[in-house]
Amino acid sequence: MSVDRRDFLKLVGMGSAVFVLGTRVLPGAADVIPGQDDFLFVQLSDAHWGFSDPKVNPDYAATLKKAIAAVNSMKMQPDFVVFTGDITQTTDDPAVRRKRMAEARDIINGLKVKTIRFLAGEHDAGLDKGEAFQEYFGKTHYTFDHKGVHFIVIDNVSDPTSSIGDVQLQWLGDELKKIDKDSRIVVLTHRPLFDLYPNWDWWTRDGAKAIDLLMPYKNVTVLYGHIHQEHHHMTAHIPHHAAKGLMYPLPEAGSFAKRVPIPWDPAAPYKGLGYRSIEAKAAKAEYLLTEYPIKDKKLIRL
Ligand SMILES: [Fe+2]
Repeated sequence: MSVDRRDFLKLVGMGSAVFVLGTRVLPGAADVIPGQDDFLFVQLSDAHWGFSDPKVNPDYAATLKKAIAAVNSMKMQPDFVVFTGDITQTTDDPAVRRKRMAEARDIINGLKVKTIRFLAGEHDAGLDKGEAFQEYFGKTHYTFDHKGVHFIVIDNVSDPTSSIGDVQLQWLGDELKKIDKDSRIVVLTHRPLFDLYPNWDWWTRDGAKAIDLLMPYKNVTVLYGHIHQEHHHMTAHIPHHAAKGLMYPLPEAGSFAKRVPIPWDPAAPYKGLGYRSIEAKAAKAEYLLTEYPIKDKKLIRL
């Protein structure tokens, strides 16, 4: 049986977002709609540059570089890349923090695509309220528009109580007032905005307030990181998609007593690590997510 693309999308659709795991739905001629701007962007997350436990990732010095090379080799280059936080591994030493940020920034700047939107994670920003992050990567909350989609970056990490905070929530409300209710909105953030697993800090203390503000908008999709694994969740009509990380995978919520990295499996190097592309389809405000693994032709010696 052949299923046409539109039916297939209905089949797997979740509200305004669609996800397609591990495979690409190839755009065909029938998808080209005059006057509509489709585009592709890439989400990288949780590189934890500076992490150095070889039992967890013996290729800690090169995994991020492999991801950058993989993005550079994509046949269709993305319009831009978003990095959803934890660019660096946390450290108490402000000088080491800055060194890690400088190194990671240099590696990421090896991308062919020159528009990179950075977000902070709690590893980057939790100990100095985002001071060093802002020196190297810019603001921690902001908006940008691309081909008809409004992107809103929410900072839920600079506040050490895992909160967005009233000042930023006020800003979010003011930004949303400028946008039509049926506009396409992509929210980028680090922690989940919903209570995925608060015991492991997989939540945002006042995330429900942000979701309440977003709720009147019909076409909202949230992309985030933090949990180092793919995860898909709906809050009413709003889908939330967590991305894999680039240093170590974490177990499923609550599956272990403690939130500890999954050890490296020599039989399956880079298992659980990866990145994704997002194809924004203008016609129906859909997003096709494609998950890519980290691959290495030269297997590293353990
Ligand atoms: Fe992380």
